[in-house]
Amino acid sequence: MVPTPALPFSAYATDTRVEIDAALERYTEFDADCPAKLRAAIQHSLLAPCKRLRPLLVLMAAEACGSDREAAMPAACAVEMVHTYSLIHDDLPAMDDDDLRRGRPTCHAKFGEAMGILAGDALLTNAFEILARDVRDPAIAAACCVELARAAGASGMVGGQVDDLAAEFQDAGLEQLERIHRRKTGAMFLVSLRLGALIAGADVGQLAALNTYGAKLGLAFQIADDLLDVSGDESAMGKRTGKDSDRGKLTFPALLGVDESTRRACALIEEACAALAIFGPNASQLEALARYVVERNQ
Ligand code: IPE
Ligand code: IPE
Ligand code: MG
Ligand code: MG
Ligand code: MG
Repeated sequence: MVPTPALPFSAYATDTRVEIDAALERYTEFDADCPAKLRAAIQHSLLAPCKRLRPLLVLMAAEACGSDREAAMPAACAVEMVHTYSLIHDDLPAMDDDDLRRGRPTCHAKFGEAMGILAGDALLTNAFEILARDVRDPAIAAACCVELARAAGASGMVGGQVDDLAAEFQDAGLEQLERIHRRKTGAMFLVSLRLGALIAGADVGQLAALNTYGAKLGLAFQIADDLLDVSGDESAMGKRTGKDSDRGKLTFPALLGVDESTRRACALIEEACAALAIFGPNASQLEALARYVVERNQ
């Protein structure tokens, strides 16, 4: 595997990401019935150097709610597999048509369009196998499956992606933009936290705090992603920049300008961190991650 640069926001995050990467490697060995080319396509995208923010959120939420990290690792991997499938499909010619992702050629650019589609299909499907089988308590495993399916499905990430494409070169306002970002990106952030919390047996107050934190973090994250598309560095980010304006995407900088978008992202992060107060010092990692989301250059 290509070594990944340290995550600048904490040693905890850097070390935990190594554990996540190792678990993902184990989960994508597959048996002899998995075609070698499919395994290679999956591993090319899934095991590429990247931030692993969503699995980190699963583990940090579980730990903030008093669970051990190991219990939440299957859910962390499932979420990352669904996220990676969404990236592979997001990059397809029929969607954003990108040729660079996580510092590598996109899945379809390297393995062909059919293999890109199928690698995404396999990641999505096997994620639910992991969740159903490896989350220790079967009732919680079932609840996790429902939550992840809802967040990733028609009313969640996929719905947001549909509206993201439909909004290209259209006149739409802030309300529609926030609705797109809440589903295409926010839903996966939120469900990451919720799975960690469910596995840890969180109480109602803890879940409510994580809901607030996750909703604000998810929106701030996508505003930062939109800003990095305008002013980020391709080699640091490992993906193309300047694509959103070419494709007429509805984004925060397009609608509100860079300064106001930056201001809003920072304000959302302050609000997100304020919601963590009930956890006290147990939420320090969640707070560090939130601050990183708007300060990052990758
Ligand atoms: C990129 O997500 C896709 C968006 C939702 C904007 P990340 O920026 O978290 O990408 P990776 O997982 O680190 O590659
Ligand atoms: C992608 O949003 C969101 C999902 C993959 C669900 P973008 O299209 O802005 O992500 P990048 O900029 O290509 O990573
Ligand atoms: Mg897109
Ligand atoms: Mg894209
Ligand atoms: Mg983007």
